[in-house]
Amino acid sequence: MTLMIGIPRETAAGEKRVATVPEVVEKLIKLGFKVAVESGAGDAANCSDDTYRAAGAEIIDGAAKLWASSDIVFKVCVPTTDEVGLMREGGTLIGFVWPAQNPELMQQLAAKKATVLAIDCLPRMLSRAQKMDALTSQAGVAGYRAVIEAANAFGRFFNGQITAAGKVPPAKVFIAGAGVAGLAAIGTAAGLGAIVRANDTRAEVADQVKSLGGEFVKVEYEEEGGGGGGYAKVMSEGFQQAQREMYAKQAKEVDIIITTALIPGKPAPRLITAEMVQSMKPGSVIVDMAAERGGNCELTEPGKAVVKHGVTIVGYTDLNSRLAKQSSTLYATNLFRLSEELCKTKDGIINVNMEDDAIRGLTVIKNGEITWPAPAPKLPAAPAKPATAKVAPAAKGHGHGGSSEPMAGGKLAIMFAVAAVLFWLIGAYAPAAFLGHFTVFVLACFVGYMVVWNVTPALHTPLMSVTNAISSIIAIGALVQVAPPVDATDGRGLILGLAVAALALTAVNMFGGFAVTQRMLAMFRK
Ligand code: NAI
Repeated sequence: MTLMIGIPRETAAGEKRVATVPEVVEKLIKLGFKVAVESGAGDAANCSDDTYRAAGAEIIDGAAKLWASSDIVFKVCVPTTDEVGLMREGGTLIGFVWPAQNPELMQQLAAKKATVLAIDCLPRMLSRAQKMDALTSQAGVAGYRAVIEAANAFGRFFNGQITAAGKVPPAKVFIAGAGVAGLAAIGTAAGLGAIVRANDTRAEVADQVKSLGGEFVKVEYEEEGGGGGGYAKVMSEGFQQAQREMYAKQAKEVDIIITTALIPGKPAPRLITAEMVQSMKPGSVIVDMAAERGGNCELTEPGKAVVKHGVTIVGYTDLNSRLAKQSSTLYATNLFRLSEELCKTKDGIINVNMEDDAIRGLTVIKNGEITWPAPAPKLPAAPAKPATAKVAPAAKGHGHGGSSEPMAGGKLAIMFAVAAVLFWLIGAYAPAAFLGHFTVFVLACFVGYMVVWNVTPALHTPLMSVTNAISSIIAIGALVQVAPPVDATDGRGLILGLAVAALALTAVNMFGGFAVTQRMLAMFRK
């Protein structure tokens, strides 16, 4: 019997997202499921009942009927007590649950003998889980929207312009906290042409900030900021003091501040004081993404945009709903990827496999039994250091680095003997000119093999580009070769012209190849 996935209309005030979109309905049906959508569920995200129907979903009127007909319910927001009341006994719920913050809800769901997969409990450090990571997809959209909100409240261009009417300097944007939302904000603001600076307590994000076009501003105080699992920790008073000084300096210089700093399970750190707001230029903007968790700015009012000391402070807590179609599409895709993992047989039946680390982490209640919190997933061990080649005494010095079984001395001797005989035969019968070229060819193969095989796979892309550049140098050699003898006059002009054109083209490839290689290698250098 294939299972029915139900999509109710979200009931939280101001929530515009929906747990699946028509494009994803088609994919769920291909996995073997039936899909039912509550009438009007997608209206606020520009997904009409008709588009769902066209994708193959059944439209059901009213929440009660929808919940009662669904074996599995996909939701965005944490379900309310009333919604859980409508749920079918023994049903499955997939969506945001936040079990630590909602113990009563957990009890209520357990009493329903439900199976609950909390998308917020996904073990994010598993690379296999990234496609299901709704926290990341939603924070990415919110970070983008935060910049758009800032641009809306800001009275100037983001990019610098020189026009007939005058010169406009680029806007300066400072991003506090370079997690998922912060990095998305950096990329968006840089894309709009602003000068972007960012700070985070975790020093390891500096490279990511740079790669997105931002400048990482360090706090002049030595302290490790990582609190495990890629999250931050509460910093020492000394660090906080140094950070406040740096932020105060930035506040005076920049036009826009976007704050995204968050420490899991703790109130948002206070980074922007009232004095800093006061010191900003009139017309500046602060977008406080952490508004819901207490705010990174002292003057933020959650859910509102207010003007204080001439600075607009945006504290919206519904940034995802302000880009509802995009947020819903990405969320729907995350849940579809999860459905694929749950239904590998593609027959519309789910298997909540508790042996699978990702599924185990997500499953907070299984058939009415609370299974949260999950044990820490077994992370793949760090790549083992290559074992020092166990070379048999007889073969010492002959083992090839790339192969795990070093070649035995006897075998190697036989190979050399065969090669020598072959050479002798070729030398005896082939024309003399051929032998010269053949020797170069064999040596080239040998050198090429030794060079390429000893390069770590991570460096293969720069290796390709440098090879490309070197092959252009070979083209120069070829051109010299094809040049006509000095005494030949016929067609010399044409050949010279072609040679010059070819040289120009090959020079682009050559210099370009080396330049690209340099840039790629620079990424590997600290
Ligand atoms: P995240 O945990 O990936 O990133 C937070 C970053 O802040 C981390 O890189 C952390 O190292 C950094 N941080 C912590 N303390 C800091 C400090 N004292 N100084 C500088 N950096 C510090 O979180 P994510 O997913 O990027 O979300 C960011 C914020 O956006 C959260 O507060 C989240 O609740 C909020 N959010 C708001 C939405 C809205 O509608 N307003 C929507 C989605 C997310």
